[in-house]
Amino acid sequence: MWWLLAAALAWGEDSFITQYEYGQMLYENPRGIGCVHCHGVHGEGKVIARYKEDDKTVVLRGPDIRKVSFATLKSALSRRYRVMPTYFLTDKEIAALYTFLTHEE
Ligand code: HEC
Repeated sequence: MWWLLAAALAWGEDSFITQYEYGQMLYENPRGIGCVHCHGVHGEGKVIARYKEDDKTVVLRGPDIRKVSFATLKSALSRRYRVMPTYFLTDKEIAALYTFLTHEE
């Protein structure tokens, strides 16, 4: 994880990675389970698991998060959900994630 720290430190006036790239790093490795495992490669959403409950197939999905607002993103990361873990990210990190999610490259 050294590179994450290096990226965080480098993210300043003369940073050599873009906000988008920093956001992508955090998306894959946000000090916890990577968002990528439940929300797909670029936040488009994906099926996390399928299981049977009372003979019915239940599909568990990570929703599409490419169009969430900054406020929704911020609150989603710090609240408690049934499936999604709680994260401890700074505003700067959330801003980078937001850039990654809402932009194409
Ligand atoms: C273990 C799977 C999992 C991981 C890992 C995960 N999520 Fe989620 N996320 C979900 C699920 C499922 C939901 C829907 C709410 C629920 O049932 O937990 C959700 C909801 C959200 C929402 C709210 C969407 C809305 O429209 O209200 C946002 C934003 C979000 N996740 C962003 C992220 C980000 C960013 C990360 C990485 C830092 C992440 N999630 C990691 C499974 C996951």
